[in-house]
Amino acid sequence: MKVTGIIGSPRGKNSSTLRLMEAAIEGACQEGADTEIIDATRLRIGFCKGCGACYRRGRCEQDDDFSYVMEKMLKADGLILGSPSYMDGVTGQMKTLMDRMSDAIHCQQFSGKHGMAVCTTGSSGAELVADYMNKFLVSCGATVVGKAVAAIGQHPGSINDAVEQAYLLGKDLVIAIRERRTYPEQEAVHRRNREVFGESIKANKEKWAHDYLYWVQKGWV
Ligand SMILES: Cc1cc2nc3c(=O)[nH]c(=O)nc-3n(C[C@H](O)[C@H](O)[C@H](O)COP(=O)(O)O)c2cc1C
Repeated sequence: MKVTGIIGSPRGKNSSTLRLMEAAIEGACQEGADTEIIDATRLRIGFCKGCGACYRRGRCEQDDDFSYVMEKMLKADGLILGSPSYMDGVTGQMKTLMDRMSDAIHCQQFSGKHGMAVCTTGSSGAELVADYMNKFLVSCGATVVGKAVAAIGQHPGSINDAVEQAYLLGKDLVIAIRERRTYPEQEAVHRRNREVFGESIKANKEKWAHDYLYWVQKGWV
């Protein structure tokens, strides 16, 4: 079983969010997962151009590191997203990666995967940002087990509690994968997304040839 963490802080080993990510990864490792952390800020990932090539052909026309990180995510059973709060949002690097993954949402490519999110902040936005990353994972079809956050400017000691929480959640992520855990409210979102995207994909089947074929092959349309 593979668990992959994607970190979006540009502060390398000085990153507090990385501490939470490493704790979650350690928890996953203790439960028997094969783990890795990818630093999205060290990769060359261009902005989405909104050209729709991914919907048409199933891959992006930009020749950069996106395909490397996407392949890693598709191979993983569990995904951990980590970003500090920047202006109460994810960092630009994390958002740039997410924008490039529009086709993962159209094709619900994370169906069957599980995920979680970690975030640190000075004082504001930690819950919001972690919830945003988890919502993104659910939009891609994944099931999320929770989040670990800390507002470390306001409460410096809170990082220690969050490290413990991240560790336990990393373990729980692996248990959730193993038992194929589902949550009724997330299943409802998945069903709704299947309906909404199914209709869009049928309505645009000539334009979005790859997506339509993908859905046909999955037996979803
Ligand atoms: C560009 C920038 C924007 C930030 N925006 C916020 C913010 O909106 N709210 C907040 O409380 N802290 C904000 N911070 C502080 C970081 O969220 C905080 O220091 C975080 O723990 C950094 O995580 P890292 O060490 O993993 O990079 C910001 C920091 C930077 C550099």
